[in-house]
Amino acid sequence: MALINENFYKLRSSYLFPEVRRRVAHFTDQRPGLNITNLGMGDVVLPLASTVTAAMKAAVEELESPDTFKGYGPVQGYDFLRNAILEQDYASRGVQLSPDEIFISEGSKSDCGNLQELFSVDARVAIADPVYPVYVDSNVMAGRTGVLRADRRYERLVYLPCREETGFVPEPPSETVDFVYLCSPNNPTGAVMNRQQLTDWVRWAQRTHAILLFDAAYEAFIGDADLPHSIYEIDGARVCAIEMRSFSKSAGFTGVRCGFTVIPKDVMGYGSDGKGTSLHSLWSRRYATKYNGTSYIVQRGAAAVYTPAGRKETSVQVAFYMDNARIMRQKLLQMGFQVWGGENAPYVWMATKGSKSSWDFFDRMLAEALVIGTPGIGFGPSGEGYYRLSAFSMREGLEDALIRIERAFG
Ligand code: MLT
Repeated sequence: MALINENFYKLRSSYLFPEVRRRVAHFTDQRPGLNITNLGMGDVVLPLASTVTAAMKAAVEELESPDTFKGYGPVQGYDFLRNAILEQDYASRGVQLSPDEIFISEGSKSDCGNLQELFSVDARVAIADPVYPVYVDSNVMAGRTGVLRADRRYERLVYLPCREETGFVPEPPSETVDFVYLCSPNNPTGAVMNRQQLTDWVRWAQRTHAILLFDAAYEAFIGDADLPHSIYEIDGARVCAIEMRSFSKSAGFTGVRCGFTVIPKDVMGYGSDGKGTSLHSLWSRRYATKYNGTSYIVQRGAAAVYTPAGRKETSVQVAFYMDNARIMRQKLLQMGFQVWGGENAPYVWMATKGSKSSWDFFDRMLAEALVIGTPGIGFGPSGEGYYRLSAFSMREGLEDALIRIERAFG
């Protein structure tokens, strides 16, 4: 008899996006043939930049010849990509890292889900609320929480409610925790933490010896020159922060898969004997055991993003999505909705005016406006009363959707 990991029993029966798909399938089964606009899951719609596909095609050709064929690559990633990241994402912002502090991966979702393995099962975890569900579920699976209570909060998990009054930005907890997930620009609220807010978090982490797991998957969408793109722009973050980044949304890699995690060698964790160990060395050990490196073809594609042509093409894509966000914001505000985000992030967060719950609003949007969004409650209890729209859409579909929303709710 194979005993299972019973922590899985504690999870909600389905991950958020499959539940959205289930409801949409149920609706379309009953009313087939309708033209529905999907502004739900944040999945890109524009094709890859031609510089990226050309680099991947050239890499495929290299693999055809015995002289240039590649077998297993360096598990943490090829230097050509790590050096490009180092120079263009970090050194250009005054952040000094060494290439071996960068771990190329197959995407940020896996990194977000896996990084918790570095910590004790007894470690206390804090999360912003609402939040990207992967942070919560991966810790539930690992046994770091108790059961899900009737108020939709897991026992032992520390929730940091993000409210309108504080611009949906979480504040450091008063109780002791071992690590905390921060996401800026934020999924789902679109809020972006400013320099002072990030500094407060870094000072708190230094004081309490907690680790910040900083998810910067959406940094490319920051347009405001005063906002930091990396936690390492804050003095002192090298000793207390791990940063995750992704090519998914900034370069259209949701299907191709590539991201990276930065772990400076100064970030320390502690054994039960109080002895410090560098988390970088633990993650290197884990990588060597559980990963064989991101595909050479994909890494060549990612490196092409950093060429002048790749930069230009991908920034046009980012600008297109941010124009979508601006159009959505403006229209929804004109219709009288309360709206946040969408200025330095590809998500618009809105209040579900006149609806009993965010799932109720989701159902109404689907039935009355033929629009798929994401109910705020799916991101945590403090998401109740809100709804997320993604800017990853073709323009025509988006404009039609806004017309239908106006007819139904305006
Ligand atoms: C979302 O819609 O929240 C994103 O697609 C999440 C992800 O990138 O996994």
